[in-house]
Amino acid sequence: MVRDLEGNAILETHLPLPRIAVGKVRDIYGVGSDKLLIITTDRLSAFDVVMPTPVPLKGKVLNQITLFWQNYFRDVIPQHIITADVDEMSLPDEVIKNFRHEIEGRSMLVRKAQPLEIECVVRGYITGSGWKDYKKTGMVCGHKLLPGMKQCEKFPEPLFTPSTKSKAGHDVNIDFGEAIRIVGKDVAMQVRDLTVALYKKGQEYAASKGIIIADTKFEFGIRDGEIILIDEILTPDSSRFWPADQYETGHDQPSFDKQIVRNYLETLAWDKRPPGPELPPDIIEKTTAAYCEIFKRLTGKDIRQV
Ligand SMILES: Nc1ncnc2c1ncn2[C@@H]1O[C@H](COP(=O)(O)OP(=O)(O)OP(=O)(O)O)[C@@H](O)[C@H]1O
Ligand SMILES: [Mg+2]
Repeated sequence: MVRDLEGNAILETHLPLPRIAVGKVRDIYGVGSDKLLIITTDRLSAFDVVMPTPVPLKGKVLNQITLFWQNYFRDVIPQHIITADVDEMSLPDEVIKNFRHEIEGRSMLVRKAQPLEIECVVRGYITGSGWKDYKKTGMVCGHKLLPGMKQCEKFPEPLFTPSTKSKAGHDVNIDFGEAIRIVGKDVAMQVRDLTVALYKKGQEYAASKGIIIADTKFEFGIRDGEIILIDEILTPDSSRFWPADQYETGHDQPSFDKQIVRNYLETLAWDKRPPGPELPPDIIEKTTAAYCEIFKRLTGKDIRQV
């Protein structure tokens, strides 16, 4: 089963186009002077290390989830997408002919923007670095919180908790004053309000499908003087997705997508430093199934039919 699928899995791409960037998950190529081709590969990172084994269908799921939300939010904010249809991308014939299987379903052609130098994080529940900061200081990114919160408890209102966008190493949480210093007051206030509004709308929808989006990160860019939404949107890579039927405060929640891999990795003697270990077929198969299940729950569709 996986062996069949693995034939279609893409760990890295090598298109004859200028390669602008290689992220943990995405390969990004320049198209003309003002467009980007963003390809979501099947790479999976766990404990911040990219695994050497691809997860079939993961890239397609992430790309299609972002397309879903772009459509869902089309009246809320302008988007960077031009098209996700390979035949409408005006790519060189050679690329279409020889590399269609590396592009189709998992990519989009977008307007290149000037990305803001902050990550727009919003938290609906107290977990991760927010929980750590709260335990130490009673605060999260400058927000003073009530004492006695439990791990993974829901905030009365979602918190905007921006971070720096660091090229290497971990992003650092900042308060709103620091965000203003980096992007200016007008832009900071606009993206704060947009971030919270997008999260609330998305979380409400996901909750109706049995998924809690505990927190997420949006990226905004400036294009022709206008703030637009860029990058991925409310995917399990940019957000914490929790199965609502297993939600309970007082401890960590299982993650919808990577828990199988994390649990497996915890059984190894691996020190969580690169390179990561190869993942066995049954772990990969279950992880693919988890991504397909998330897509199904969110959109009602089978990713294989998309
Ligand atoms: N329309 C756009 N214009 C310019 N840059 C964009 C646009 N959309 C997305 N990006 C950038 O593309 C990158 C997405 O790639 P990817 O998610 O793989 O990498 P990353 O998030 O930077 O790093 P990593 O995933 O390795 O932590 C981000 O740096 C994002 O800012
Ligand atoms: Mg990213």
